[in-house]
Amino acid sequence: MISAVLAAAALACPQEAKLKAMLPEVFAKSAAHYRAIDAAATPLMNAGDVKEAVPHGDKPHGERRVPHGWDAKTGKLDMRSIYWWTSGHFPGALWYLYEATGDGFFRDRATVWTESIAPNSKVSDNHDVGFIMNCSFGNARRLLKTDKYDAILKETADSLSKRFNPGLGLLRSWGDIREKKNFLVIPDNMMNLELLEEAAKLPGGERRFADIARSHATKTMAHHFRADGGTYHVLNYDQRPGFHGAVQEIRRGQGLSCETAWSRGQSWAIYGYAMMYRESKDPAYLAFAQKVSDFAINNPNMPEDGVPYWDFGAPGEERDSSAASIMSSGLLELSTFLPGEKGAKYRAFAVRQLLSLCSDAYFAKPGENGDWLLKHGVGHKPAGSEIDTPLDYGDYYFLEALLRFRRLAGE
Ligand code: GLY
Repeated sequence: MISAVLAAAALACPQEAKLKAMLPEVFAKSAAHYRAIDAAATPLMNAGDVKEAVPHGDKPHGERRVPHGWDAKTGKLDMRSIYWWTSGHFPGALWYLYEATGDGFFRDRATVWTESIAPNSKVSDNHDVGFIMNCSFGNARRLLKTDKYDAILKETADSLSKRFNPGLGLLRSWGDIREKKNFLVIPDNMMNLELLEEAAKLPGGERRFADIARSHATKTMAHHFRADGGTYHVLNYDQRPGFHGAVQEIRRGQGLSCETAWSRGQSWAIYGYAMMYRESKDPAYLAFAQKVSDFAINNPNMPEDGVPYWDFGAPGEERDSSAASIMSSGLLELSTFLPGEKGAKYRAFAVRQLLSLCSDAYFAKPGENGDWLLKHGVGHKPAGSEIDTPLDYGDYYFLEALLRFRRLAGE
């Protein structure tokens, strides 16, 4: 919450006034884009003959599907299994459009798509179930003010908590929970802690869910970042008795190299530590959120428009609009915890990013970009996958950031 006086003072800034004036049109255009995606995707929802673009774990194919992206070569919507790691983002974006517009169409469609991914609550073979279910069911619970999804959110937290290794104090991000050789952790995992925090607060929610989230955040803070605040992508921890907690290997993962910072990983960290401070009020997380944010916003390779190259070590290569949208949402939250100029610099940077993302350079025209909102996302460049393309999670955090800004601007 911020005071009306602070909100008014901040809006004196011309950039903020400009963004505020753009919001109604951006939300209206976004709503039209998502109506088009929903219309194209609905007939494909149960289509078992749509080829799985990327198989996920050991889940059966031919399951229900949700829209994920767009294939520019074929012009076709990219539908993925409900077990794909981003399956909560399309339903979540529909919830944000309901919040932005009040239009019952989005509430009804968000409900249908959200309930279609319910089987994820029983999944323990990946860490992504945290944000899959919190972006969808978590927003449904918040906006509908209903307790009918409490049980499924608590069941998901229980499934996710099976990935916690008490000896290491960490959740395993990738891999089977019985695997002995590798214990792989990525900064993206910070995003799945919010579900655990939310589930712990539900009536009958278990305190251990929040304890796991805080243990994971604290251990990650200790190991996963260089002295300058830049993140590694994949760390492999040693699980052998007597070696507990040692990092046995660093992998470049989705980044350019082991010694550069992958931009979306940095954004997950910024968002994750701001969120963990909100939930825990642990000042160590607040200080760390500032450190990882300062790495990004003061980085010599950060472009003027605030939309990072896909890796901080790859200036001149593709931008990643999803890294910018996630970062802007995290920075806006972080700004609310810091008084005066300390918070204002994060808020100003987020506004700069959002103005860029709302411009023609990134925001798609109707009918282009498969009707997804943001152009120029990068999924996994080292694997040659999803380069310079729309990404469902880029859109989700863009809408979230605009809504956060709208609240801060006193609307
Ligand atoms: N969590 C996977 C990614 O950010 O691409």
